[in-house]
This record gives sequence, C-alpha cells and structure tokens, in this order.
Amino acid sequence: MRRSLEKLFFCRPRILNLLHWANLANATSQTIPAELEALERYAAGAGQALEIGTYQGVSAAIIARVLGPGGLLHCVDPWQETSERQNNPCWAICQRHLRRSGVKNRIRILRGYSREVANQVPDRLDFAFIDGDHSWEGIKTDWTIVSEKMLPGGVVCLHDSFTPTGEDWRRPDSCAYFEKVIQNDPRFCLVEVVHSLAVLRKIK
Ligand SMILES: C[S@@+](CC[C@H](N)C(=O)[O-])C[C@H]1O[C@@H](n2cnc3c(N)ncnc32)[C@H](O)[C@@H]1O
Repeated sequence: MRRSLEKLFFCRPRILNLLHWANLANATSQTIPAELEALERYAAGAGQALEIGTYQGVSAAIIARVLGPGGLLHCVDPWQETSERQNNPCWAICQRHLRRSGVKNRIRILRGYSREVANQVPDRLDFAFIDGDHSWEGIKTDWTIVSEKMLPGGVVCLHDSFTPTGEDWRRPDSCAYFEKVIQNDPRFCLVEVVHSLAVLRKIK
C-alpha cells in the first residue's frame, strides 16, 4: 500500500508531502537499495561527511545513522522554492524524515547550490556522496569542490556515474564526465561500482 502510494505520487511531491505527514508514505529516492547499502558501508565510522543533493533525505538519513561518534553530515541542496508563496515540499519531507529517523543532531543543513556554499564545507572530509546536478558543468563544479577536500583514505561515492545494464536510456553527462575526467584523476582509485554508483578512495 505505502509502496504503491509512493510510486503513484513520486512526481507529485505536494501530495506526497501530505501522505508523508499523515505517515501513509515514506520519503522517496532514485537511489536504489543496493546503492544505499553501499553508502551505509562506506560511510560507517566517518567523522566529517558531505552530501551534495539531499532531496527528501533518504540517503542522508542512512549516512548520518552510521557516522562515528561526534560525526556530522553536511547536507547541501537548494530545495528551491517552487513559487513565491510555496515552500518546496521536498524540503518539508526531508526535515520530517530526518527528525523521524532520529538523526537531526548529526546533520548540518547548508541550503544553497554547491557553488554557493562550498566555503562553508569543512576542508577535511572522510566521506562524500555527490548526487546533485548531473550536467557536465554541475559535476565538474562538485568534483572540484570535493576532490580537494577529501582526506587521504577518504571515500567519495558518485551517483549516476555508470549506465546500469539494461538501462541504456540512462546516460546523464555525469557518466561522460566520470569516464573522461574522474576515472583518470591520479589522486583517486576506483574501489567498487554498484549499479550507477562509483565508489572511489583518495590515495594521495
Ligand atoms: C537525485 S536528488 C538527490 C537524492 C538523494 N541523494 C537521495 O538519494 O535520497 C538531487 C538533488 O540535488 C539537488 N541539486 C541540484 N543541483 C544542485 C547543486 N548544484 N547543489 C546542490 N544540490 C543540487 C536537487 O535540488 C535535488 O534535491
């Protein structure tokens, strides 16, 4: 019942927000369970973590829950207003989802585009999940910000970096940027691919 309501109203976040408020639907995400499980594994024990693109808070809640003692997840998203009067319903769902998940005290919200709030992100990160703007310029901006700030040994996960088998229609520019630029960055090595998700570790 919950799953079918979520599927039905995935593209109608205002209705989804009402259902979520009434506890009739969960927060939604395009990140599949296997990818969420990988995020959980690689974020475990991290101190300073970053997520670019938080949407309704699904991946953020999973990452925040497994951080080490005193760990903090910095969540970057503009949650752009849909009109002058109306708040973005994904922002309302996200706040409620993080509160219900019991992780609000492990999350610092940076509301804005990554290029606008980059100077508020700490310089020494153990873990990052990039899932914001998947255009060439968007991922280029995010990779420039994140790659500089990762500590040696730190892990970066990038969504939509590979076209999953059988999903040939799914080829955002972030896949091309990954293939041409990120995969050849000598500071990082690829440790795992899960569906569309690339997992890299900083080596120097
Ligand atoms: C695919 S959703 C994120 C889903 C989320 N990571 C999850 O798995 O639950 C992408 C989000 O990125 C945000 N976004 C788009 N461009 C951005 C940018 N330049 N900086 C930060 N966030 C951005 C959008 O507002 C949207 O909420």
